[in-house]
Parts: sequence; structure tokens; C-alpha cells
Amino acid sequence: MEDLDMLFLVTELLDKNKQVLVHGKRVAKLACAIAKELKYCNDGIKHISLAAIVHDIGKIQIPAEIINKPGVLDDNEVVVIRKHPEFGYRLLMDMKPESIIAEVALQHHERLDGSGYPFGLRAKDINPVTRIIAVADVIETMVSPQVYRPALSINAVLEEIKQNSGLLYDFNVVAASLLLIKKGVLSV
Ligand SMILES: [Fe+2]
Repeated sequence: MEDLDMLFLVTELLDKNKQVLVHGKRVAKLACAIAKELKYCNDGIKHISLAAIVHDIGKIQIPAEIINKPGVLDDNEVVVIRKHPEFGYRLLMDMKPESIIAEVALQHHERLDGSGYPFGLRAKDINPVTRIIAVADVIETMVSPQVYRPALSINAVLEEIKQNSGLLYDFNVVAASLLLIKKGVLSV
């Protein structure tokens, strides 16, 4: 039953915003490659994959005109869009409270130095799976065109994650990502 509920939820996301689901799938591919590099076991990688696919599922509850707005968001719109981690957490906790996927949805915009949202958590309070998905999310978002800007270059990605390794992003996750970029895995 739980799995059927999950399938319905993912289908709803597909209906409402296919791009969010495509992004989730691409983040999953990258996050799994990073986890493999970090020697996670197969079961661990499966959990990471599911968590990555649904990490932005809370966007179901954000008005489409905000998600699809081609320009810069105003302050009120930023407040609304920043609610998606908590919306996702509630949806996923109803379905799979025993899994880490709800926590990942809640934490994926948190940053090690406390500058993220919704709670400004610091490194020790951000779970290791979220740290992987957070970096995969940043990389995938940068290399993909967004409604508000064209795709950014790999060099821009390298600069972002190298500069902020250990500050915003987990040092080991960044090291694994750099290795994958070197190997050309980024052509997801
Ligand atoms: Fe997000």
C-alpha cells in the first residue's frame, strides 16, 4: 500500500510538473554515482536513489506560476518556494516514516555552515545521505537550463563546489564529485 501511495505521489508530480521529476531522476543518477564512489552498499544506493527522485516532491504544493516564473522571484515568492522542503517532509512522513527519504526532502537545502534553509542546520545535524543529494542537486541544477537562466558551464560547477567544499558542501562528497566530473559522468 505504501508503495502504491508513493507511485500515486510520483505520478501526481509528473502531471503537475514533469521538469521537477526529470530533475529528481537526474539528481538520483548523479547521487548514486557519488555514493558508489564513496563505497556505499547496494541497499544504501537504492535508498539514495529513491530519496533523490522525490527530494523536491513538496513542489507539488507550490503554485505553478511561482515554479515556472521566468524571472527573478520577489521576496514573497522566495518565502513560498522555500516551503517545499517542509511540504515534502510532511507528504513523505505520512507514507514512509521509517525511511530517511522524508528527512532528505526536509534537509536538502541545508548547508554545512548553517546558511541553508528551512532551519539553518549545521554540519553535525545534516545526515550523510542528504549531504550527497545536496551536492548532486546543486550540480544538476547548475548544468541544466532553468526557466530563469540558461545552463551553466562545467567550469562554473567546478568553481562553486571547489570553493565551498567543507564550507557549504561535504568535503568527501565534493571530492567524489570532482572525480566523477573528471571521468565525464556529468553528461547525465
Ligand atoms: Fe529543492
